[in-house]
Amino acid sequence: MKFFIDTADLAEIRSLASSGLLDGVTTNPSLVAKSGKDFKETIKDICAVVPGPVSAEVAGTEYDQIMAEANVLRKIADNVCIKVPLTPDGLRACSHLRRDGTMVNVTLCFSAGQALLAAKCGASFISPFVGRVDDIGWDGIGLIADIVQMYDNYDFATEVLVASVRSPLHVVEAAKLGAHVATLPPAVLRSLFNHPLTEKGLATFLADWAKTGQSIL
Ligand code: E4P
Repeated sequence: MKFFIDTADLAEIRSLASSGLLDGVTTNPSLVAKSGKDFKETIKDICAVVPGPVSAEVAGTEYDQIMAEANVLRKIADNVCIKVPLTPDGLRACSHLRRDGTMVNVTLCFSAGQALLAAKCGASFISPFVGRVDDIGWDGIGLIADIVQMYDNYDFATEVLVASVRSPLHVVEAAKLGAHVATLPPAVLRSLFNHPLTEKGLATFLADWAKTGQSIL
């Protein structure tokens, strides 16, 4: 499973890039607003730090505007992935951009039927929002299961990019289902390291090692 990081915070991205765990980055307008930084500059800086796909979301909702914005964003760097909303105009733009060889992430997916439309339009990635589906009392991970099965049935090349991830359990359940990518808020990525027995075991080993009086170096 590939790990993308879901943030526009360049300092966070720089800090996590050195972990060797990052395969890409996703941003959205809310994350850009939270960062308070210039959008295009931020995307350029992120692309220089992480070689994998960096999703940059268009703000337009009509086809011509989406295409005009995509043309600006895709020139920023070769690893820019244009993020479009799952709407008729967004998917029309997706088909066009994919024919030109541009990576496209179709976002705001909340149903298996929507995911089918995105795959038929050749999306590089489909972003189902597990957390927001759970928030309304539906089954976010069940949605991932449906999409993975449907894409497998027809050998669609579109990768399932699990978004709106809220917990390590979301990541593990999505990985068990074979989802290709999870985009993680930095806190969720860091929390994957945590286990009380790891901390306890390490403390015991260090205490016992000190008793030996030895040094490896
Ligand atoms: C990623 O591409 C999405 O925009 C993001 O994961 C949404 O997450 P949220 O539901 O926590 O805002």
